[in-house]
Amino acid sequence: MTTSKDTGTHGAVLQDTPPEGDRPLVELRGAGKAYGNVRALHGVDLTVRPAGVTCVLGDNGAGKSTLIKIISGLHQHTEGEFLVDGAPVRFASPRDALDKGIATVYQDLATVPLMPVWRNFFLGSEMTKGPWPVRRLDIARMKATADEELRNMGIVLDDLEQPIGTLSGGQRQCVAIARAVYFGARVLILDEPTAALGVKQSGVVLKYIAAARERGLGVIFITHNPHHAYMVGDHFSVLRLGTLELSAERADITLEELTNHMAGGAELAALKHELAQVGGVDTAELPDEGALPAAAAAPRPSADGGD
Ligand SMILES: Nc1ncnc2c1ncn2[C@@H]1O[C@H](COP(=O)(O)OP(=O)(O)OP(=O)(O)O)[C@@H](O)[C@H]1O
Ligand SMILES: [Mg+2]
Repeated sequence: MTTSKDTGTHGAVLQDTPPEGDRPLVELRGAGKAYGNVRALHGVDLTVRPAGVTCVLGDNGAGKSTLIKIISGLHQHTEGEFLVDGAPVRFASPRDALDKGIATVYQDLATVPLMPVWRNFFLGSEMTKGPWPVRRLDIARMKATADEELRNMGIVLDDLEQPIGTLSGGQRQCVAIARAVYFGARVLILDEPTAALGVKQSGVVLKYIAAARERGLGVIFITHNPHHAYMVGDHFSVLRLGTLELSAERADITLEELTNHMAGGAELAALKHELAQVGGVDTAELPDEGALPAAAAAPRPSADGGD
């Protein structure tokens, strides 16, 4: 592409057309993890690109948390390769991952409920002013920065002085996302950020996942929910019993197909058969055995339609 660089009012343009523009930030190649003789993950390929959302789906125990623990530096892979910016890595701790710009937002957010929003935003990385030994917290600058950063992500809170515990779960997730972006994350890992949220709150979190992508981050979005995944995802990886059952680009899979993969088609068909004998349960919408899509996603009808 030969689009001329946007020379707006800001003189300094940060992106100097990097040649590695689409180079994967994070890559797993045949990666796996065994806990003793429990093989939690095996032969998994995964790619995270700048400005892309990679969704990792799967049922309980499928290996989703194990996968992100490898990438976030909590555990080490025991097979295959793990690359960051094209170079093999092996993290000894989450600190190593953070140093590479890989930030993880866990579901049980590490916030202090009674502290104000701005204070939580800087928790552990407070701004200070003045020389030692009279160095003190730079409260004004922290408040102004937190306010600006939240606004940059489109998050408007009435009052940054309110204890973070008074925010909704969705809002707290959003603050955590804005915080990771501010502290220089290039890869953002979200472990089931919408699992405990209602429809509206989930929508808000999905919006900020899209906002993080707009800012060029690579996002790994772990979820049980194919609908949430499909709203923001560029790539979908479905884990099943520790292996990759499906890996598809958005253009190659429909929401229906993704939902069927997630539902575990064959199991649903068996469930339908059982439930039909119970009575009082409407099984009409469940798939029949044999009526399920094949493992590989059928291509969607293309827009340039032949006939
Ligand atoms: N520390 C551990 N020691 C032994 N086995 C483990 C350990 N952590 C996970 N496992 C096993 O590895 C498998 C995958 O677990 P994992 O937590 O990655 O699944 P998950 O997809 O995150 O599930 P959930 O949706 O319930 O969070 C499971 O069989 C689990 O019992
Ligand atoms: Mg998990």
